[in-house]
Amino acid sequence: MNDIVDLLQRHRSIRQFKQEPVSEEALEAIVRSAQMASTSSNVQAYSVIAVTRAETKRALSVLAGNQRSVAECPVLLVWCADLRRNRLACEREGVEMVSDTMENFIVATVDTALAAQNAAIAAESLGLGIVYVGGLRNDLREVTRLLDVPELVYPVFGMCVGYPDHESSVRPRLPVRAVLHRESYDRAGQQEALEEYDQTTRDYYLERTKGKRATTWSQDMGEKFKRPARDYMRTYLEEQGFRFDR
Ligand SMILES: Cc1cc2nc3c(=O)[nH]c(=O)nc-3n(C[C@H](O)[C@H](O)[C@H](O)COP(=O)(O)O)c2cc1C
Repeated sequence: MNDIVDLLQRHRSIRQFKQEPVSEEALEAIVRSAQMASTSSNVQAYSVIAVTRAETKRALSVLAGNQRSVAECPVLLVWCADLRRNRLACEREGVEMVSDTMENFIVATVDTALAAQNAAIAAESLGLGIVYVGGLRNDLREVTRLLDVPELVYPVFGMCVGYPDHESSVRPRLPVRAVLHRESYDRAGQQEALEEYDQTTRDYYLERTKGKRATTWSQDMGEKFKRPARDYMRTYLEEQGFRFDR
């Protein structure tokens, strides 16, 4: 269709990287592109911490559940929702910031994700590969300590960036009709779409693992959602100064 649509549709996470560093020029282009993502009322409520020091990456790799890509990537970007700067701006105006709303938390988290995804696309357009690292949320208290993350800021996820050292296949997504609803929410189409996607995923795994894995998407979701994940999160966020009183 066009180069950008092609790039987006070729996306695949990269988990093994060449030693080659990411230049300062590339890093700056990536972050500038991230900054041009739309942002709620221009609040720009995020920060990104670029980690290149081997020791820090190794520690973060362990915290993320021993993910080798975190230790081995040339640069790990830690994307943080950040309302602290907004509070500083309010203070400059002598205004006390209202920060205890769920809405503010959503705004900051959404802004962070939009910026990060712009960064991902910019990186891929430069021939780099990326993988998000939600594993950092396994132990956010320790990540917060390690990166000296202040109040009203929290790391949402990491992102390994580097030159790909392997080719991985494009992972099939749900059929478009599962996620694209016309005019109103279409409940009826979902079961059929799931049926189709379960088959697609089973075939994908069978081929990719030479017959060793044959799970369906529904099976994977059953595994993922049958128990709570990271249920310390609310307490941690409150410790960081985020409040959900209203
Ligand atoms: C917020 C977020 C967190 C993720 N965390 C991890 C992670 O900790 N480790 C990992 O290997 N992949 C992680 N991923 C990558 C996803 O597994 C991957 O995007 C998904 O399976 C689709 O595959 P693809 O990116 O190759 O198309 C994460 C993705 C997102 C968006």
